[in-house]
Amino acid sequence: MVSWAVTGATRGIGLGFVQNLSADSQNQVFAIIRSLATAGPLKELATERKNIHIVVTELSDPEKLKLAAAEVSKATGGSLDVLILNAGSAGPETSALPPSAFHGKEEALEKEIGENINNNIISNIYVINSFLDLIRNGTEKKIAFVSSQSGDLEFTRITGFSFVMGYSIAKAGMNIVMTKFGAELAHEGIKTISLSPGWVNTDAAKAVTGDPAVRKIMLDLFHKLDPDVSGPIEVDESVSSQLKLIKELTAENSGKFLTHHGDTSTWF
Ligand SMILES: NC(=O)c1ccc[n+]([C@@H]2O[C@H](COP(=O)([O-])OP(=O)(O)OC[C@H]3O[C@@H](n4cnc5c(N)ncnc54)[C@H](OP(=O)(O)O)[C@@H]3O)[C@@H](O)[C@H]2O)c1
Repeated sequence: MVSWAVTGATRGIGLGFVQNLSADSQNQVFAIIRSLATAGPLKELATERKNIHIVVTELSDPEKLKLAAAEVSKATGGSLDVLILNAGSAGPETSALPPSAFHGKEEALEKEIGENINNNIISNIYVINSFLDLIRNGTEKKIAFVSSQSGDLEFTRITGFSFVMGYSIAKAGMNIVMTKFGAELAHEGIKTISLSPGWVNTDAAKAVTGDPAVRKIMLDLFHKLDPDVSGPIEVDESVSSQLKLIKELTAENSGKFLTHHGDTSTWF
């Protein structure tokens, strides 16, 4: 049996990971969520598939994460093979603004960057450190981070995508954190990877591009990089591409930041 833990598993890409992985009865899947309020479809799936375990915790609270890791440990006998850090959000209502719009709005700037760093970097470091002993005892010894193309310099440079500043800073920052964990833990056989999931049809994507005018602005920018992109891909496609890369992860490519195609330039 291979054990997997996925954070942010109530909806979107996180739920997609749970759906895909739990279809194989040889996988044991821990759906790590912050609340049951949005977990209707996950709960339904977990009643059908006994290899899904729902664990409710708070990613920003190391004490609660300790209890979550103990719950996983009890079910696996003290190990975890693969940890997928998927939970993430774009943060405050200012996220649509470009950097210069924060001139004279110091409080909003601190909130934009601070909230994103707390939610998308610090919480993820808490999660890794809370589950690290279990990963050490696992056979796969893999940690994957669901990053974003918006944290990539070349993507930003070529498309001119100047929005979601705090989120992009946090995703880029977490990429280097993943590389550092990989560098530190390589001698223990632990491997890390950051993956862009692509542009994926989820609630988060709809919140940004649900408005046809906004969608047109985004597509005009994205066409500078890829003239053929017409819209987001479905969750299944993103998840199966990412799982292929996680399964193929070796010591040689540990610590990299890759697109869901496994390269550093095909973001759609
Ligand atoms: N969709 C895209 O096009 C796209 C592109 C690039 C990167 N990504 C990344 O892919 C990941 C998944 O995104 P998605 O599109 O599937 O988003 P989504 O549909 O909005 O789902 C986000 C998931 O993360 C959870 N979550 C968010 N903030 C959290 C927090 N502070 N603590 C605990 N759980 C939290 C949500 O839980 P609740 O149900 O409790 O809110 C939900 O389960 C994110 O890291 C996102 O940045 C997505």
